Amino acid sequence: MTSDISTGSVIPGVLSNDELFSKVHRLKKEMNALILAHYYTLPEIQQAADIVGDSLALARAAEKNDAEVIVFAGVYFMAETAKILNPSKLVLMPDEYAGCPLADSCPTDDFRAFRERWPEAVVITYINSSAEIKALSDITCTSSNAEHIVRQIPADRQIIFGPDRNLGGYIARKTGREMILWQGYCYVHDAFSESAILDACRQYPDAELIAHPECREEVLRHAAFTGSTQKLLDYTVSSPSRSFIIATEPGIIYEMQKRSPDKKFIPAPKDPDNPRSVCKQMKQNTLGKLYQCMLERKPEILVGEKLRNEALGSIRRMLEMSPS
Ligand code: 13P
Ligand code: SF4
Repeated sequence: MTSDISTGSVIPGVLSNDELFSKVHRLKKEMNALILAHYYTLPEIQQAADIVGDSLALARAAEKNDAEVIVFAGVYFMAETAKILNPSKLVLMPDEYAGCPLADSCPTDDFRAFRERWPEAVVITYINSSAEIKALSDITCTSSNAEHIVRQIPADRQIIFGPDRNLGGYIARKTGREMILWQGYCYVHDAFSESAILDACRQYPDAELIAHPECREEVLRHAAFTGSTQKLLDYTVSSPSRSFIIATEPGIIYEMQKRSPDKKFIPAPKDPDNPRSVCKQMKQNTLGKLYQCMLERKPEILVGEKLRNEALGSIRRMLEMSPS
């Protein structure tokens, strides 16, 4: 991307990170903008953000703020959720093509037909889904609050859970509830191989393996602790262990290292040839694109009013049913 600053367009390629940081900072004040970033984004995006969090923390931050503009450095469903909660605010994304393949693996018509097979069931869907899927759901959840929400469903009610089969399976095992699972998965977490992780455990015998519930059962079975991105971060702070093997997207290691500079964090291997499993879509958020989207006030995330109202109920229910 090369064009002239003086004409109002940007040249992210020729600006240093320091220049981009100060331009983003200035624009943020002028626009009364709030920059939200997920823990899986690049370190420089996390540095530029006002709030860095997991999906639940970011949904909460998007719900309660006084900003006029929300800039969401994450993936599409996150910015879309922010827009559903804030119809009158301008919601921007550095790269609107940063989608979530897990969310995309659940097409609306197929999910509607799936749901109709169990008309009496409560439909709980992971926030990693489109607005259309949220509109077909009773309650949205994240990996931080899924167990808490499932435990509030009366024992005699069937539960449909989608789209992540690994998170659904984990919650079913933890709560003892039978759940009807949509068979989607996150390519980043599903890719961790049990044998490569066990090799890493042998190589670092003092390290604790901690894992995100989007990982497969055969990986979770070996973990000393399983939890959402935020819970994994909190665990590394409170645990007396000095080293950890991290079976989630390695972007979180930036914050883990910041909070515990003396501890060692080893990304879990995807397989013997790949030392880490990375979410390409989260990394599409670059500092140059962040600056450009704020300067140009686009791409703007839009959700039609009818769909917004239909999806809002399941998101609101999640926020009401979450632990405080
Ligand atoms: P959490 O942020 O809830 O841990 O979810 C992880 C994830 O894959 C986000 O896309
Ligand atoms: Fe989607 Fe997985 Fe990337 Fe999260 S880490 S945005 S679930 S592909």
